[in-house]
Amino acid sequence: MSRLCRFGVSLEKKMIDAFDRHIHNSAYQNRSEAIRDLIRESLTRKKIAGDGIVAGAIVMTYDHHKRDLVNKLLDVQHDFQKLIISTQHVHMDHVHCLEIIAVHGRAREIEKLADAIRAQVGVLQVDLSLIMTK
Ligand code: NI
Repeated sequence: MSRLCRFGVSLEKKMIDAFDRHIHNSAYQNRSEAIRDLIRESLTRKKIAGDGIVAGAIVMTYDHHKRDLVNKLLDVQHDFQKLIISTQHVHMDHVHCLEIIAVHGRAREIEKLADAIRAQVGVLQVDLSLIMTK
């Protein structure tokens, strides 16, 4: 087993409370185990990235009142239009929007699209779900 290293993580109290509830309802013994799994999952996802052809969905929430955000998100989607099959937009409340982008193409390129969306100020959460097509 490789050497264990410790590091500190700063999170909003609300997020830590929600995470602790998640841990309590799961089989995890402590936060470290749960965080380790999240990191492993993220690294595994990166491994999928590459030359493989995949299909999936990018699900995101954002604050549409953020200055220029809607236009920036449209610009990003047009930059990657060859990967996008369809988009669905849901107005969650007065402020928040949910968008589901169906994608198909090279995993590495889809990851780039998801990262470009994550980088926009006002985007609250992004989840990328990919499945192998071959
Ligand atoms: Ni909306």
